[in-house]
Amino acid sequence: MADGSSETKSSNQMWGGRFASGPDAIMEEINASIGFDKKLYAQDIRGSIAHATMLAHQGIISAEDKDKIVHGLDTILSEIESGTFEFSRRLEDIHMNIEARLATLIGPAAGRLHTARSRNDQVALDFRLWVKEELRKTEEALTGLISAFLDRAEEHAGTVMPGFTHLQTAQPVTFGHHCMAYVEMFGRDRARVRHAIEHLDESPIGAAALAGTGFPIDRHMTAKALGFREPTRNSIDTVSDRDFALEFLSIAAIAATHLSRLAEEIVIWSTPQFGFIRLSDAFSTGSSIMPQKKNPDAAELVRAKTGRINGSLIALLTVMKGLPLAYSKDMQEDKEQVFDAAESLELAIAAMTGMIRDVTVRADRMRAAAGSGYSTATDLADWLVREAGLPFRDAHHVTGRVVALAEQKRCDLADLSLAELQTINSAITDKVFDVLTVEASVASRTSFGGTAPAEVRKQIAWWRARN
Ligand code: ARG
Repeated sequence: MADGSSETKSSNQMWGGRFASGPDAIMEEINASIGFDKKLYAQDIRGSIAHATMLAHQGIISAEDKDKIVHGLDTILSEIESGTFEFSRRLEDIHMNIEARLATLIGPAAGRLHTARSRNDQVALDFRLWVKEELRKTEEALTGLISAFLDRAEEHAGTVMPGFTHLQTAQPVTFGHHCMAYVEMFGRDRARVRHAIEHLDESPIGAAALAGTGFPIDRHMTAKALGFREPTRNSIDTVSDRDFALEFLSIAAIAATHLSRLAEEIVIWSTPQFGFIRLSDAFSTGSSIMPQKKNPDAAELVRAKTGRINGSLIALLTVMKGLPLAYSKDMQEDKEQVFDAAESLELAIAAMTGMIRDVTVRADRMRAAAGSGYSTATDLADWLVREAGLPFRDAHHVTGRVVALAEQKRCDLADLSLAELQTINSAITDKVFDVLTVEASVASRTSFGGTAPAEVRKQIAWWRARN
């Protein structure tokens, strides 16, 4: 604390040259990132090995020192992975923890590793590598979810259910078609992921603090060694940029929004009132007091994770919005948001994939609901246009009167007699009954992207070829 005790602390071994004393305890606490950036250890070590190899190749350090550095870094990697590595908050972050340990292991050669680099390009590199890997995992997870949906869609290409607008029964659709709507959504998410991978595929290492370096480094060599397409072009932008993190979070927020809408439908559909689906025991919970209950907790939590993920996006946008170029310590706050969102998204996609694979579809309940609420009224209006030559607006009016009559008689459209229908419009013939069933309704919607089972099967085939 600010009681003068900091005077006695030793100054930092990495940058302590111009410091007479070490930091106040609160300074150390607010400054340290090791608590969360230790997650970047593997990326940090990979980056350092590529950097040291390049330095030796360019004659900036000796081959002997490079070998010592690489060997020491390999040792540190296994120490961290076996849990024997001691992380120290006094050493601030993952970069300095690893470098300090390297000095203990190999002596003065360790001090040569940081030639022609700064923690600014180092952290940009580590974090980019981490986000790139996470995007690949997300891509794979989305592919799994899409595949679960394709299987269910195939099974239920002909299963009729009510389609909704305003959550009011609108027109009959098939459950397969509804599933394919989510395939489109998650397919777009995956396309955004792929695009983001391409976007971030530039290597930051070698930008140094912000201005580049006078050492004859080869940034193309490190870029290649680290699996990047090419090096970044502007050293100032390189250490200032967190677009790759923001893109990850934006993609995560949109995907989470899709997952949340799906979760909401699962919650509604699994109520006894709807009863369209039954969740498996594996993805629901019971109530401690009400024995009859089966709760869709997994769906509810997926819905709730969206809040965290959106929060992370807003948090990082807000951190970045006022920062002058180039690096500012504010940017250290980027990692926790991304780590938390990544964990939430991974879990949400996995839970959703499990729910979709396991869910029991209650086709009888869907069929019954599909026929209620005069869902084939549009089919009647379309029939009047096609067969009786009415303008659509007039057909809409006639159909409205037919619905009113059915409502008054408390029956479905198909239950009205031909005579009753003809009292409203004499052009109606008994052929109209062909379009009043929900099966006929869905089968007739053969427009590209429509709900007819044949069309839904085409959509499934299109996606199968791309998944
Ligand atoms: N721990 C820091 C971060 O995450 C590393 C970069 C520190 N750079 C500096 N100039 N202090 O942002």
